[in-house]
Order: sequence, then structure tokens, then C-alpha cells
Amino acid sequence: MPDIGFVNGRFCALADAVVSIEDRGFQFGDGVYEVVRTYAGRPFELDAHLARLERSAHALHLSLPVTRARLAEDVRDGIRRAGYPESKVYLQITRGPASRDHQFPATPAPTIVMTVRELHPLARAIFARGVRVITLEDQRWGRCDIKSVNLLPNVLARQRAAQAGAFEAIFVREGVVTEGAVSNLMLVQDGVLITAPEGPRILSGVTRSLVLSEARQAGLSVEERYSGLEIVASAQEVFLTGTTVEVLGVVRIDEKVISSGHPGPVTQMLATRFRTLTA
Ligand code: PDD
Repeated sequence: MPDIGFVNGRFCALADAVVSIEDRGFQFGDGVYEVVRTYAGRPFELDAHLARLERSAHALHLSLPVTRARLAEDVRDGIRRAGYPESKVYLQITRGPASRDHQFPATPAPTIVMTVRELHPLARAIFARGVRVITLEDQRWGRCDIKSVNLLPNVLARQRAAQAGAFEAIFVREGVVTEGAVSNLMLVQDGVLITAPEGPRILSGVTRSLVLSEARQAGLSVEERYSGLEIVASAQEVFLTGTTVEVLGVVRIDEKVISSGHPGPVTQMLATRFRTLTA
């Protein structure tokens, strides 16, 4: 089976999935999205992703044209049809096609698209080794809690990271670290797990919530507060969380080596606990 596409309720081969050039997602980035992955063929935390999709849409005054249950069924159907060992599902809802005018159309007809592609998990060696990240000024807008398709600053940041031979770019706004371009960031100092608080500066990650709850269950204190870049760069451990990165140790931030250059014990413990949740 080729990669699967889905447009407004219809599955097709990805190459045949098309939307209007007047779609507001294409013209204005007027839409929201989610990325969901499977473990053992089952979508992981699908309800949490769809709840966030609804929250994002609501924040943009975009009414979802279908119920959350219907979307869940479509995602499961797409995964079944694709039949991959593991899938990565991309789901996007835009305000739909309309003649180009910034204000909303009087009667929007939202577009729902989905792709299902084979997921190739990160190599185990990458988790064992940890990754390098670069820091960049956070040039995103003031509502990073909305998972909107306006990803230009994230795109530019990922490109810079790739050019620097780094795995991820982490954003710094007014001296404090917010999150990564496609991940949340956490640090460990003296047995305390610290991460930026939920709010307009970060995306409230599904993985972030799970990892914080695992950390609390493991007896760590958790503090949701901002840290300056110098605090992060001198932390005992730093790691990323996200659907695509899971729990991934950071061993270098720009030129500064973290945690003697290896993922630390708390990172490893949380990565193991997270893996158990996915089993
Ligand atoms: N990104 N922060 C940002 C800016 C993100 O784009 C993502 C996920 C996360 C982690 O969220 P979660 O744990 O819910 O995946 C944090 C997806 C994977 C993407 O844009 O491809």
C-alpha cells in the first residue's frame, strides 16, 4: 500500500490527495494540526492529541466540522489501511477554501486532511549517545500554545540546526529557554526536574505531561518555571520530550557540554518509564 492521504472524509493514495489553491491553510496558514505516532500499531495518546486539536481550533474560532470520535475513527482507519509496522499520522484542519480575504469567510467549509506514513523510529544509539542542540532567539508569535500550521520560525530554526549538524534548535526568549522547535525541554538540577510552565510561550506537549507525571511518581520534585539559558547550559542533565523524540538526552548546547557528554541517570530513568507507557 502506498502512503495514505485523506481529504474531507475520503481516503486515497497520497499522490491523489489534493486541496484547492484557495485553501486558507495554504494562503494564510489559517489552520491547526497534530502529529500522532503508533506503538505496536496503536495510536499513542490519541485522545490527548485530539483534545489539543480541538483547543487549538477553538482558540482560532475554527469550528471543527466533525466530532472528536469521528476523527479518532478516521485516524484508526488510516492506520489500518496503511498497514505499516509503525505509522506517523499528520492531521490538519484549516478554515477551508475561500476567495482571498483576510477576514473569515461568512460560511467557512473547513478542510480536513490526513497523511499516514511509515514511522522509522530513531535509532537506539541516538538515545544512548544523546544529541547536540543549538540555541536561537524565539521569534515565534505570542500564542505558541496553539498548534497552528504557521511554522515558519520553527522551519528556519530546524534548518539552522541541520546546517550546524545539531539535532534540534532550542528557543530563547528574553533570556529564558522556552522549548525546542519540535519538542519541549526539561532540565535536572539537584534532584529537581524543571521545565517551562504551560502558557502562551510553549506548546503543552502530550509527552511533556506524561513525563512530568512519571517524574512525580518516581519521587522527583517538579518545578514548572522558566530557566535562563545559563542555568540550562550548566544543568546536571537536559533532555527533550516530544512525539517524535520521546525522551532524548541533550549532551551539548551550542559549545557547552552537558552532563559530562552522556545522557544522565534521571534522563535514562524517565526514558525507560516512558517506554513502559508505550508498550
Ligand atoms: N511537534 N513543542 C513544539 C513546538 C512542538 O512542535 C512539539 C511537537 C512539541 C512536543 O509535543 P508532543 O509531545 O505533544 O508531541 C513541543 C510535532 C511532533 C511536529 O510539529 O512535528
